[in-house]
Amino acid sequence: MEEIFGKASETASYIRERLKTSPRIAIILGSGLGPLVDELEETIEIDYSEIPNFPVTTVEGHAGKMVAGRLEGKDVLVMKGRFHLYEGYDISQVVFHIRVFKLLGIDNLLVTNAAGGVNKNFKPGDLMLIKDHISFFAPSPLRGKNLSEFGVRFPDMCEAYSRELVQMAKSVSATAGINVQEGVYAYAQGPMYETPAEIRALSILGADAVGMSTVTEVIAARHSEMRVLGISCITNMAAGILDQPLNHEEVMKTAKEVEKKFTSLVRLLVSNWRIAG
Ligand code: HPA
Repeated sequence: MEEIFGKASETASYIRERLKTSPRIAIILGSGLGPLVDELEETIEIDYSEIPNFPVTTVEGHAGKMVAGRLEGKDVLVMKGRFHLYEGYDISQVVFHIRVFKLLGIDNLLVTNAAGGVNKNFKPGDLMLIKDHISFFAPSPLRGKNLSEFGVRFPDMCEAYSRELVQMAKSVSATAGINVQEGVYAYAQGPMYETPAEIRALSILGADAVGMSTVTEVIAARHSEMRVLGISCITNMAAGILDQPLNHEEVMKTAKEVEKKFTSLVRLLVSNWRIAG
């Protein structure tokens, strides 16, 4: 387990040397949301394959690179492509980049994903601010000896997603006339989509959206007390809500259609994001 700290330290040193800046905000881009990196200025790109100890992404729609640059006058570090449990990585690999972020001094995280809409009032193309999550079906990334360099043994999860940031996001999106939903994101391991019975069960548990990422990263981020804001792009209605099968093409197609709205929202969020200290 100490090994994780050693490896993450090595990775952080490598990235620090490649970057000219010390970003305080990291942005993780979900399926189909990668084009946001084209909005950055003064970029430095690092392919995941160049980064020591980094897993390599395999899923279609995830290019697998880290891009540092400026957005709305702030230094940000963007991950285009993340590591999912269903790709076969173990849980410590799935959250390894979060550990590295912490060692880089990043204390603000904007996490995004493509998700299925469980809430029947949602429609494909909606953006949802994540106000909380349900992790019951995710293995804990904190399992094992506590990594005290990163955080405490029993971290509080009362405010996994910063209320202040959700409030800021609601207010700036309202002012800009960007319609956003708000809800609870439930984790599913994938890679198969859920069954209609599973979606009915998640709905009863209080979920508004479902997806195969984010939750484990947010747990690791909160272990290190990062401030987290999450956005789900509702790419499809979850299984059984409409009488039609689900597929990855639909997810990618909707994400592409939402690109402009998503980019405008992220710009607003970064622009209005107050960084402490
Ligand atoms: N279920 C799980 N993950 C997803 C979905 C879904 O319906 N859509 C996009 N990612």
